Amino acid sequence: MLQPRILIVDSHGANALPYARLSARLQPMEVRVETSLERALATLSRDSWDLGVVTARSGPTADVLYSALRKADPQLPMVVIDPRPGVDTARSCLQAGAGDYLDIARVETDLEDALVRLLTVSRHKAAEEVLRRAVERPYTYAEFLGESPAMRQVYSVIDRVAASSVDVLVTGETGTGKELVARAIHARSRRNTGPFVPVDCGAIPDALMESELFGHERGAFTGADARRMGLVEFADGGTLFLDEVGELPLPLQAKLLRVLQERRVRRVGARQENAVDVRVVAATSRNLDQMVERGEFRRDLFYRINVVRIELPPLRTRGDDIGLLAEFFANKAAQEMGRPVGGLSTDVYQVLRSYHWPGNVRELQNAVRRAITMTREPTAGVDDLPDEVVAAAGRASGPEAGAAGFFAQRTEHVSRFEKQYLTDLLARHLGDVSAAAREARLPRGTLYRLMKGHGLDGASFRK
Ligand SMILES: Nc1ncnc2c1ncn2[C@@H]1O[C@H](COP(=O)(O)OP(=O)(O)O)[C@@H](O)[C@H]1O
Ligand SMILES: [Mg+2]
Repeated sequence: MLQPRILIVDSHGANALPYARLSARLQPMEVRVETSLERALATLSRDSWDLGVVTARSGPTADVLYSALRKADPQLPMVVIDPRPGVDTARSCLQAGAGDYLDIARVETDLEDALVRLLTVSRHKAAEEVLRRAVERPYTYAEFLGESPAMRQVYSVIDRVAASSVDVLVTGETGTGKELVARAIHARSRRNTGPFVPVDCGAIPDALMESELFGHERGAFTGADARRMGLVEFADGGTLFLDEVGELPLPLQAKLLRVLQERRVRRVGARQENAVDVRVVAATSRNLDQMVERGEFRRDLFYRINVVRIELPPLRTRGDDIGLLAEFFANKAAQEMGRPVGGLSTDVYQVLRSYHWPGNVRELQNAVRRAITMTREPTAGVDDLPDEVVAAAGRASGPEAGAAGFFAQRTEHVSRFEKQYLTDLLARHLGDVSAAAREARLPRGTLYRLMKGHGLDGASFRK
């Protein structure tokens, strides 16, 4: 699971209540403290949070504070802590949807429980929400995940160009989502009732390319025994997606330029031209500027398609998006395979973040899908990831990879420590797993699973 993100609002600051202990006692989480309502509202509008903890000091009463925050983020579960508790305030907070309402005197004893309960609920909600969106809107932003600044920039450009009819160039490494962008532009444009026609310029043999794209008349060349419409005409009224446009041979680049300028095509062997109404979205994973310098790509065509350019960032630079995408792909894969949604262990997220992802989102998707397929546990672990991902994470060096190096050893240390702890625990209880579980305050099933993971069984501790 991703680390939960908790937003705390308390005018007395981070240390007024034992907030810091929560992370140590419960599970690692990202905590942010805001000391005023204004700042909290700004933070809520900027990014998304799993849980809010609001302490109503002097100033507005708890219910007023609560409803202001609720308005800013209607989905956010919140715990309200009230130094001036009252039955009416409590009722109005809870009726308005607060997850919990605590008298400040009960914080020591009750806050942890409240958080655990709400976090569990909010996780499920988040997973469901993502799946629901994916099912309802297959071709819009449904599967477009990512909140990193670079991706937000991408969405806003998509929104702006979708409304117009301009041609667009999408650049980015393989697997960064270029085709997804092209489909998103199409889906949000007025052309969305027309066809979306993808053409992979790298996959069609040069000899066939011209007639594939522009069509031909009967008898235009040997084997042309019927007239045929090309893909450009086929996209009439819709969007033509020219993938890997850098692979287009130079003579066809000239012909494409003419289509873009005149919006007319001439089939191979034809005398007259036909008008076409298409928007072209071209994509490339190559450096077109450089190809132009080398004379491999026509400068005039480059200028023509480079008017609006959307550059997709490599996944390795997208920070938290990696976790977001991984969680989504894990849930989706589990659902498709009809398995309970158990997700990925925290360790997995750390490894995923330190790998360099040359195949970007596509590679991540495959890695996660594979992990969910391979795992025998409810939650997929590091062992279920492809070797190259784990190896690279362990080997990685440099500032960015520091966490991975540490992580590789940390797992080992934690595991050794855990085994020792379990061994001592079981020895103390002479192999009585129920008694051991009670002492460790673990459900018995969980203890069994941990024991199994370390090859321990109760019988060997009986006298
Ligand atoms: N931001 C994203 N959110 C969700 N899925 C994505 C995202 N970007 C890419 N993908 C998925 O990754 C895969 C590769 O995307 P694609 O558009 O084919 O990449 P490209 O054309 O750049 O090689 C596809 O399955 C796509 O759905
Ligand atoms: Mg592609």
